[in-house]
Amino acid sequence: MKTGYVELARAQQERWQTAYEQDQNLHGTAPSAAARWTAKLFGAAGIDDVLELGAGQGRDAFYLAKQGFSVHATDFSTSALNRLRLEAQRAGLDDRVTAALHDVRDPLPPADATVGAVYANVLLNMAFSRTELRALVNEIRRVLRPGGLFVYTVWSTQDSCFGRGEDIGDGLYAKDGFAGRFFDLDLVHELADRWELGAADAYEENGHSLWRVTQAKPAPAT
Ligand SMILES: C[S@@+](CC[C@H](N)C(=O)[O-])C[C@H]1O[C@@H](n2cnc3c(N)ncnc32)[C@H](O)[C@@H]1O
Repeated sequence: MKTGYVELARAQQERWQTAYEQDQNLHGTAPSAAARWTAKLFGAAGIDDVLELGAGQGRDAFYLAKQGFSVHATDFSTSALNRLRLEAQRAGLDDRVTAALHDVRDPLPPADATVGAVYANVLLNMAFSRTELRALVNEIRRVLRPGGLFVYTVWSTQDSCFGRGEDIGDGLYAKDGFAGRFFDLDLVHELADRWELGAADAYEENGHSLWRVTQAKPAPAT
Protein backbone atom coordinates (compact mmCIF):
# COMPACT_ATOMS: atom_id res chain seq x y z
CA MET A 1 0.00 0.00 0.00
CA LYS A 2 1.31 3.44 -0.91
CA THR A 3 -0.82 5.01 1.84
CA GLY A 4 -2.27 3.40 4.97
CA TYR A 5 -5.86 2.16 5.04
CA VAL A 6 -6.98 4.98 7.37
CA GLU A 7 -5.78 7.66 4.92
CA LEU A 8 -7.23 5.71 2.00
CA ALA A 9 -10.61 5.39 3.74
CA ARG A 10 -10.72 9.13 4.45
CA ALA A 11 -9.79 9.98 0.86
CA GLN A 12 -12.43 7.58 -0.47
CA GLN A 13 -15.14 9.06 1.73
CA GLU A 14 -14.27 12.55 0.45
CA ARG A 15 -14.17 11.31 -3.15
CA TRP A 16 -17.63 9.76 -2.90
CA GLN A 17 -18.99 12.80 -1.08
CA THR A 18 -17.78 15.11 -3.86
CA ALA A 19 -19.12 12.80 -6.57
CA TYR A 20 -22.58 12.74 -4.96
CA GLU A 21 -22.56 16.50 -4.42
CA GLN A 22 -21.84 16.99 -8.11
CA ASP A 23 -24.43 14.57 -9.43
CA GLN A 24 -27.93 14.13 -7.97
CA ASN A 25 -28.32 10.85 -9.88
CA LEU A 26 -24.81 9.46 -9.92
CA HIS A 27 -25.87 5.88 -10.65
CA GLY A 28 -29.13 6.79 -12.39
CA THR A 29 -32.62 6.29 -11.06
CA ALA A 30 -33.35 2.83 -12.50
CA PRO A 31 -32.70 -0.08 -10.14
CA SER A 32 -29.66 -2.25 -10.75
CA ALA A 33 -30.03 -5.69 -12.34
CA ALA A 34 -29.02 -7.15 -8.99
CA ALA A 35 -31.85 -5.37 -7.15
CA ARG A 36 -34.46 -6.78 -9.55
CA TRP A 37 -33.07 -10.29 -9.14
CA THR A 38 -32.67 -9.94 -5.36
CA ALA A 39 -36.26 -8.73 -4.84
CA LYS A 40 -37.50 -12.00 -6.36
CA LEU A 41 -35.16 -14.09 -4.21
CA PHE A 42 -36.03 -12.28 -0.96
CA GLY A 43 -39.75 -12.38 -1.79
CA ALA A 44 -39.64 -16.13 -2.45
CA ALA A 45 -37.77 -16.62 0.85
CA GLY A 46 -40.51 -14.78 2.77
CA ILE A 47 -38.16 -11.99 3.86
CA ASP A 48 -39.66 -8.59 4.64
CA ASP A 49 -36.80 -6.50 6.03
CA VAL A 50 -33.58 -5.64 4.24
CA LEU A 51 -30.45 -3.89 5.46
CA GLU A 52 -28.78 -2.27 2.48
CA LEU A 53 -25.08 -1.35 2.81
CA GLY A 54 -23.43 1.24 0.55
CA ALA A 55 -26.88 2.26 -0.70
CA GLY A 56 -25.72 5.50 -2.36
CA GLN A 57 -28.63 7.73 -3.41
CA GLY A 58 -31.09 4.90 -2.99
CA ARG A 59 -32.11 3.67 -6.43
CA ASP A 60 -32.15 0.02 -5.23
CA ALA A 61 -33.61 0.84 -1.80
CA PHE A 62 -36.58 2.52 -3.52
CA TYR A 63 -37.07 -0.43 -5.85
CA LEU A 64 -36.99 -2.91 -2.96
CA ALA A 65 -39.40 -0.73 -0.97
CA LYS A 66 -41.78 -0.58 -3.93
CA GLN A 67 -41.72 -4.39 -3.99
CA GLY A 68 -42.97 -4.31 -0.38
CA PHE A 69 -39.78 -4.69 1.66
CA SER A 70 -38.83 -2.48 4.62
CA VAL A 71 -35.37 -1.19 3.80
CA HIS A 72 -32.80 0.32 6.13
CA ALA A 73 -30.26 1.97 3.83
CA THR A 74 -26.78 2.96 4.97
CA ASP A 75 -23.80 4.66 3.35
CA PHE A 76 -20.81 6.69 4.49
CA SER A 77 -21.74 9.71 2.33
CA THR A 78 -24.01 12.30 3.97
CA SER A 79 -24.62 13.82 0.55
CA ALA A 80 -25.92 10.52 -0.88
CA LEU A 81 -28.12 9.95 2.16
CA ASN A 82 -29.58 13.48 2.07
CA ARG A 83 -30.62 12.84 -1.50
CA LEU A 84 -32.00 9.41 -0.56
CA ARG A 85 -34.11 10.82 2.27
CA LEU A 86 -35.48 13.62 0.09
CA GLU A 87 -36.43 11.23 -2.70
CA ALA A 88 -37.98 8.76 -0.24
CA GLN A 89 -40.20 11.57 1.05
CA ARG A 90 -41.09 12.76 -2.44
CA ALA A 91 -42.01 9.23 -3.50
CA GLY A 92 -44.01 8.61 -0.32
CA LEU A 93 -41.68 5.76 0.59
CA ASP A 94 -40.32 7.21 3.83
CA ASP A 95 -42.42 4.79 5.89
CA ARG A 96 -40.60 1.90 4.24
CA VAL A 97 -37.12 3.35 3.64
CA THR A 98 -35.04 4.58 6.58
CA ALA A 99 -31.45 5.76 6.26
CA ALA A 100 -28.40 6.10 8.49
CA LEU A 101 -24.84 7.23 8.05
CA HIS A 102 -22.54 4.27 8.56
CA ASP A 103 -19.04 3.26 7.55
CA VAL A 104 -18.99 -0.50 7.06
CA ARG A 105 -15.52 -0.64 8.64
CA ASP A 106 -17.35 -0.05 11.93
CA PRO A 107 -19.53 -2.68 13.61
CA LEU A 108 -23.02 -2.84 12.12
CA PRO A 109 -25.66 -1.14 14.31
CA PRO A 110 -28.29 -3.96 14.51
CA ALA A 111 -28.28 -6.39 17.41
CA ASP A 112 -27.37 -10.04 16.87
CA ALA A 113 -29.71 -12.12 14.70
CA THR A 114 -32.29 -9.38 14.08
CA VAL A 115 -32.10 -8.80 10.31
CA GLY A 116 -33.85 -10.84 7.60
CA ALA A 117 -31.54 -10.02 4.69
CA VAL A 118 -28.54 -7.88 3.81
CA TYR A 119 -27.96 -6.47 0.33
CA ALA A 120 -24.88 -4.63 -0.98
CA ASN A 121 -24.58 -3.67 -4.65
CA VAL A 122 -21.01 -2.90 -5.73
CA LEU A 123 -19.82 -2.13 -2.21
CA LEU A 124 -17.47 -4.95 -1.20
CA ASN A 125 -15.19 -4.16 -4.15
CA MET A 126 -14.48 -0.71 -2.70
CA ALA A 127 -11.12 0.09 -1.05
CA PHE A 128 -11.16 -2.47 1.76
CA SER A 129 -8.29 -4.64 2.94
CA ARG A 130 -8.97 -8.36 2.96
CA THR A 131 -9.02 -8.18 6.77
CA GLU A 132 -11.70 -5.48 6.60
CA LEU A 133 -13.70 -7.59 4.16
CA ARG A 134 -13.58 -10.61 6.45
CA ALA A 135 -14.62 -8.45 9.43
CA LEU A 136 -17.51 -7.01 7.43
CA VAL A 137 -18.92 -10.39 6.36
CA ASN A 138 -18.56 -11.60 9.96
CA GLU A 139 -20.58 -8.59 11.09
CA ILE A 140 -23.22 -9.30 8.45
CA ARG A 141 -23.45 -12.89 9.63
CA ARG A 142 -23.80 -11.68 13.22
CA VAL A 143 -26.79 -9.41 12.51
CA LEU A 144 -28.64 -11.86 10.25
CA ARG A 145 -31.24 -14.18 11.67
CA PRO A 146 -30.36 -17.87 11.22
CA GLY A 147 -31.21 -18.74 7.62
CA GLY A 148 -31.01 -15.02 6.69
CA LEU A 149 -29.67 -14.13 3.25
CA PHE A 150 -26.82 -11.94 2.10
CA VAL A 151 -26.64 -10.88 -1.56
CA TYR A 152 -23.73 -8.82 -2.81
CA THR A 153 -22.26 -7.85 -6.14
CA VAL A 154 -18.65 -7.00 -6.92
CA TRP A 155 -16.43 -6.28 -9.90
CA SER A 156 -14.91 -9.41 -11.37
CA THR A 157 -11.33 -10.05 -12.45
CA GLN A 158 -12.95 -10.86 -15.83
CA ASP A 159 -13.78 -7.16 -16.24
CA SER A 160 -11.90 -5.35 -19.00
CA CYS A 161 -10.82 -2.67 -16.46
CA PHE A 162 -9.08 -5.25 -14.26
CA GLY A 163 -5.39 -4.37 -13.95
CA ARG A 164 -5.80 -1.10 -15.87
CA GLY A 165 -5.91 1.56 -13.13
CA GLU A 166 -3.03 2.58 -10.91
CA ASP A 167 -1.90 -0.36 -8.80
CA ILE A 168 -1.93 1.01 -5.23
CA GLY A 169 -0.97 -2.30 -3.65
CA ASP A 170 -2.69 -5.10 -1.73
CA GLY A 171 -4.80 -5.97 -4.80
CA LEU A 172 -6.36 -2.49 -5.04
CA TYR A 173 -6.48 -0.29 -8.13
CA ALA A 174 -7.28 3.43 -8.39
CA LYS A 175 -8.79 5.47 -11.20
CA ASP A 176 -10.02 9.08 -11.08
CA GLY A 177 -9.54 9.05 -7.32
CA PHE A 178 -11.77 5.99 -6.72
CA ALA A 179 -10.07 2.86 -5.43
CA GLY A 180 -11.32 -0.69 -5.52
CA ARG A 181 -10.66 -4.39 -5.88
CA PHE A 182 -11.60 -6.95 -8.53
CA PHE A 183 -12.82 -10.27 -7.15
CA ASP A 184 -11.87 -13.74 -8.32
CA LEU A 185 -13.74 -16.86 -7.24
CA ASP A 186 -11.13 -17.64 -4.58
CA LEU A 187 -12.00 -14.44 -2.75
CA VAL A 188 -15.73 -15.14 -3.09
CA HIS A 189 -15.16 -18.56 -1.52
CA GLU A 190 -12.94 -17.11 1.22
CA LEU A 191 -15.71 -14.70 2.23
CA ALA A 192 -18.24 -17.54 2.29
CA ASP A 193 -16.32 -19.35 5.03
CA ARG A 194 -18.81 -20.29 7.80
CA TRP A 195 -21.71 -19.46 5.45
CA GLU A 196 -23.82 -21.57 3.10
CA LEU A 197 -22.73 -20.34 -0.32
CA GLY A 198 -25.84 -20.44 -2.50
CA ALA A 199 -24.38 -19.20 -5.79
CA ALA A 200 -21.73 -17.02 -7.38
CA ASP A 201 -23.14 -15.92 -10.72
CA ALA A 202 -21.13 -14.03 -13.31
CA TYR A 203 -23.11 -11.32 -15.11
CA GLU A 204 -22.65 -8.18 -17.19
CA GLU A 205 -24.07 -4.73 -16.56
CA ASN A 206 -23.24 -1.46 -18.34
CA GLY A 207 -20.36 -3.19 -20.10
CA HIS A 208 -18.80 -4.43 -16.84
CA SER A 209 -18.28 -7.98 -15.59
CA LEU A 210 -19.46 -8.67 -12.07
CA TRP A 211 -20.19 -11.44 -9.60
CA ARG A 212 -23.54 -11.71 -7.88
CA VAL A 213 -23.09 -13.75 -4.74
CA THR A 214 -25.81 -15.25 -2.57
CA GLN A 215 -24.98 -16.75 0.78
CA ALA A 216 -27.03 -17.74 3.82
CA LYS A 217 -26.31 -17.71 7.54
CA PRO A 218 -26.54 -21.34 8.54
CA ALA A 219 -29.45 -22.21 10.78
CA PRO A 220 -28.34 -24.04 13.96
CA ALA A 221 -28.49 -27.83 13.71
CA THR A 222 -31.55 -29.23 15.47
C1 LIG B 1 -20.47 1.94 -6.61
S1 LIG B 1 -21.36 2.81 -5.39
C2 LIG B 1 -22.86 1.85 -5.35
C3 LIG B 1 -24.01 2.60 -4.75
C4 LIG B 1 -25.34 1.83 -4.73
N1 LIG B 1 -25.18 0.53 -4.10
C5 LIG B 1 -25.90 1.68 -6.12
O1 LIG B 1 -25.77 0.59 -6.70
O2 LIG B 1 -26.45 2.66 -6.61
C6 LIG B 1 -20.54 2.34 -3.89
C7 LIG B 1 -21.13 2.96 -2.63
O3 LIG B 1 -20.43 2.48 -1.50
C8 LIG B 1 -20.29 3.55 -0.59
N2 LIG B 1 -19.14 3.21 0.26
C9 LIG B 1 -17.85 3.06 -0.09
N3 LIG B 1 -17.12 2.77 0.98
C10 LIG B 1 -17.96 2.71 2.04
C11 LIG B 1 -17.78 2.46 3.43
N4 LIG B 1 -16.58 2.23 3.95
N5 LIG B 1 -18.87 2.45 4.23
C12 LIG B 1 -20.10 2.71 3.73
N6 LIG B 1 -20.34 2.99 2.42
C13 LIG B 1 -19.26 2.99 1.59
C14 LIG B 1 -20.09 4.78 -1.46
O4 LIG B 1 -20.40 5.98 -0.79
C15 LIG B 1 -21.06 4.47 -2.59
O5 LIG B 1 -22.33 4.98 -2.31
